[in-house]
Amino acid sequence: MPDEAVARETQDRKMQHINIIINEDTQYKEKTTMLELVDIKPKKGKIDPNSVDIEASLVGKKISSPIFISGMTGGHPVAMEINKNIAIAASKLKIPMGVGSQRAMLENEALAYTYDVKKFASPLILIGNMGANRLPKYDNKRIQKMLDSVKADLIAIHTNPGQESVQPEGDIDFRGVYERIVDLAKSIKQPVIVKEVGNGISKEIAKMFNKKVFAIDVQGAGGTTWIGVETFRSKGSYGNAFWDWGIPTALSVLEAKSEFKGQVWSSGGIRNPIDIVKSIAIGADMCGIAKPVIVAERKGGSEGVYNFMNDMINGVKNEMAALGFSSIKELKNAKISFKEPLKSILKDRKIRL
Ligand SMILES: Cc1cc2nc3c(=O)[nH]c(=O)nc-3n(C[C@H](O)[C@H](O)[C@H](O)COP(=O)(O)O)c2cc1C
Repeated sequence: MPDEAVARETQDRKMQHINIIINEDTQYKEKTTMLELVDIKPKKGKIDPNSVDIEASLVGKKISSPIFISGMTGGHPVAMEINKNIAIAASKLKIPMGVGSQRAMLENEALAYTYDVKKFASPLILIGNMGANRLPKYDNKRIQKMLDSVKADLIAIHTNPGQESVQPEGDIDFRGVYERIVDLAKSIKQPVIVKEVGNGISKEIAKMFNKKVFAIDVQGAGGTTWIGVETFRSKGSYGNAFWDWGIPTALSVLEAKSEFKGQVWSSGGIRNPIDIVKSIAIGADMCGIAKPVIVAERKGGSEGVYNFMNDMINGVKNEMAALGFSSIKELKNAKISFKEPLKSILKDRKIRL
């Protein structure tokens, strides 16, 4: 296919994804994040929510809370508007945001402006994004240029074999991808995050990346299923059989934590402040949200995103106060118990908190 046609196809696909996410039910059916199976033992004593401190830092910069907006879009004028609105809200709230796959701008440099949101919203911690299976096609210099042109502070590399296997034009050739991620992390200025898109990351995979990349962003099962999204786009019904495939977010965080000594981020199906509090209590350094943010943006623009995420941040403080924790450090030391079947799965997988 000529380059222009490839670029057009990527652009069209990105718009279809947004329309499907907004109009169809693309959430897991039976499977949950398993965060509901995590119990936190409250601490004694009352805390004023206003005195709860959830400030954190990322790449040496202060953030208001360990919460970020997961990478979603780019490569299209509508995507540009969405990224801009998210960026304005994220900057006001002092939280990081990701852009969606920058593939479109690699295929057509004229589309770089759709990711270049720091000119509207500063300061802002921006996370670039690229598919792992694209890496063998571009050298490190090219990727460095792609990140620098939008002033990205970090890059998330998404590994999404489940999605690619159902996507009509999917590419399931992941050969050489691990070596390319490790090589990229050594070579570029920005810290590298390895992320999924809603199917989770196992401890075996997390172990391979230990000391090789900055963070594992689990993007586990229980929220949006990209196998589901692609099932809507594909003609066959084969994606239905895999709809619920993946490692639940809570389990994936615990799996990754057991083998990966860098940052572990909890994401995939994070829908309320309690999900965030529980994620941090089991060891997550950051918590990411995708689908509800784009829904809020499409309904209410930048203000919609601001209100949604602000409620989430305040909700975390209230929930922590109710449980008796005044800081992230205290919450990370909370006594945790697990309900079945998570308890038995952790035992079988030889994972201890
Ligand atoms: C509209 C939309 C587009 C997305 N595009 C990307 C993408 O380009 N790159 C990526 O790594 N993840 C992408 N994702 C996946 C999210 O980052 C996240 O992993 C997934 O949706 C699970 O989170 P959720 O349950 O909070 O939606 C996208 C998600 C949405 C909702």
